Amino acid sequence: MSGAFRAVQVSEHVWWVGAIDWSVRMFHGYTTGRGSTYNAFLVIDEKITLIDTVKAPFFDEMMSRIASVVDPEKIDYFVSNHAEPDHSGSIRATLAAVKPEKCFASPMGDKALRAYYGDLGFSVVKTGEAVSLGCGNLAFVETKMLHWPDSMVSFYDRDNILFSQDAFGMHLAGSKLWSDDYSREVLEYEARKYFANILNPQSAKVLALLDSLPGLGLDIKIVAPDHGPLWKGEGIGWILDLYRDCAGQKPKPRAVVVFSTMWHATEKLAGAIADGFRTAGVEVAVCDLAVNDRSAVMTEVAAAGAVAFGAPTMNNQMYPAMADVLCYVRGLKPCNKIGFAFGSFGWSGEGGKQIAAELENMGFEQPIEMMQVKYMPTDADLEKAFDAGFRIGGELLGKIKKSR
Ligand code: FEO
Repeated sequence: MSGAFRAVQVSEHVWWVGAIDWSVRMFHGYTTGRGSTYNAFLVIDEKITLIDTVKAPFFDEMMSRIASVVDPEKIDYFVSNHAEPDHSGSIRATLAAVKPEKCFASPMGDKALRAYYGDLGFSVVKTGEAVSLGCGNLAFVETKMLHWPDSMVSFYDRDNILFSQDAFGMHLAGSKLWSDDYSREVLEYEARKYFANILNPQSAKVLALLDSLPGLGLDIKIVAPDHGPLWKGEGIGWILDLYRDCAGQKPKPRAVVVFSTMWHATEKLAGAIADGFRTAGVEVAVCDLAVNDRSAVMTEVAAAGAVAFGAPTMNNQMYPAMADVLCYVRGLKPCNKIGFAFGSFGWSGEGGKQIAAELENMGFEQPIEMMQVKYMPTDADLEKAFDAGFRIGGELLGKIKKSR
């Protein structure tokens, strides 16, 4: 097969043969404002090996890139590091075109791939096992729940590359292969957003993986994730440190005020609370749910040591936009936060109580009782809201000081 797409050389024996999705803006509920990539890699050794595939609509692009290096039918081995369909969606078509001698996946990967695509004849590989490709070896380490139960990483010792699937990735489409060619500001935002929205619930496992890496004895010179740019040189230390920071979930001198509003009463309270945080010396972001989606909110929540959530009551319930966001945030298991619930109501006022209960469920400390106002806040109410932000800001700074 030939075509208009070309592979990009990663190292002496490895080529990037993935796809760039410039247009994707929604990835299972996560807004991807900068698009994404689905990275697949071709190892040219005595046993030519393809690692992962791409989302189904990008099959032709991947095959075209492979064909720019080698006849796809010459591929001997296929490795699935992760069974989620953004990496496995092309597997059936790829195996039909390539007809590899052997396919490898983790034990859970084999089960997941069978469930999705039927029996494709995968051989199971486990942590500590390796496959000889002729001159180099491909060693496997299962990384269960990073991001799915099937996930594993593989290490090619001839070129010192760790193929890390979702880990250390980000949703960022671009024509450059290496992270060094992107601004650190963009990398940091997208990597933190990715961690917050994909890996945050598995923070303990991420820390365990980071702790175990030195003991694995892998001389890693390149980290090649399945999304976004690749890491080499100082970039590797940078992304590992960023992961340690995200997974540590230690409190930061930063707050976020998340609100939805019907007739601006809750919005006014949100503004006063935010100003209280700011006056206390805490950096603050304000997220109106009319213009901020769940994944943007979660990115701010993960970065914050204090979070305030406020909404009106509508038909005896918290405003639905807030219920949606709290359900999403709870699933991502942020921890170690100071929380504050607030809101407004016309006649019943269940909303604020429901928000406070959600914060309680997430294990957030709530040093100040939930506050809500009837119809529209008075000047005294706004003072009270400011005071809440100011006091929680002070508590947060004290907590950070104590934890040092
Ligand atoms: Fe990029 Fe968990 O898939």
